Amino acid sequence: MTTIIDGKATSAAIKAEIAEKVAEMTAAGMRAPHLAAILVGHDGGSETYVANKIKACAECGFKSSLIRLESTPEAPLAQETLLEEVRKLNNDPEVDGFIVQLPLPRHIDEQAVIEAIDPEKDVDGFHPVNVGKQSVGLPCFHSATPAGIVELLSRYGISPAGKKVVIVGRSNIVGKPLAAMLMQKGTKGDATVTVCHSATPDLASITRSADILVAALGRPGFITEDMVAPGAVVIDVGTTRVPDATRKSGFRLSGDVDYENVAPKCSAITPVPGGVGPMTIVSLMLNTLEAARRKS
Ligand code: GUN
Repeated sequence: MTTIIDGKATSAAIKAEIAEKVAEMTAAGMRAPHLAAILVGHDGGSETYVANKIKACAECGFKSSLIRLESTPEAPLAQETLLEEVRKLNNDPEVDGFIVQLPLPRHIDEQAVIEAIDPEKDVDGFHPVNVGKQSVGLPCFHSATPAGIVELLSRYGISPAGKKVVIVGRSNIVGKPLAAMLMQKGTKGDATVTVCHSATPDLASITRSADILVAALGRPGFITEDMVAPGAVVIDVGTTRVPDATRKSGFRLSGDVDYENVAPKCSAITPVPGGVGPMTIVSLMLNTLEAARRKS
């Protein structure tokens, strides 16, 4: 029997725990944590993610603010205007943490924007100061998706300690920080981690060696049944919109794993949607709670 790792239910339980803590904070006379989000343009995926983050804030009892900046091919947003908004949020004592939703339009230097964020308010954990602290195991804001995966494994009693973890995908926001977390000394780490990517020669022989296989490369259905060892735990981070005429929206979300054929072979697997995605948002809420507590 394959365990379906339910990120939706787990995230709901954690949001309820956060809401209780916020109620205690406000009862003690503190203000509720405040998360702000900057959204540039109208990318469909980003609109949905940000709306979900704002909704999660309400569920946790947080205050939230959405700053929308227009950018079109005819009237592209000036990078300086975006940096000015970032500086305003850095200096706003009423904002505990904020995010700039990625991806940004191509003409904007994403790294420059990330580096402009005050590391103390970088609840996405993307600033090099937080990335660096994370890699040496210092307290910091952990990047949301990897932290969500680690928490999900922990709540399902799946310890990475002593396991062989193979991560397919080397992005700055998932593959690299997840590798750093899982190889860290300690109960939620202690794994032997291999990071591969779509151009790794003989990838299947490496993925087949995994006790825990993480697919985070953004290619729908890339991980097929022949790439997975019987009894492996499979974590699917992919959320690609693929056209689907049967849906009202015209698309469905597809993971990086060929779920139908891989699931029967695994001991446990995350579905898409409803697996890692909701946990990413909950990690952001936990980081924001932590940011608010640090200030009190
Ligand atoms: N785009 C995709 N994932 C993320 C995320 O976790 N944070 C931000 N800011 N943008 C994203």
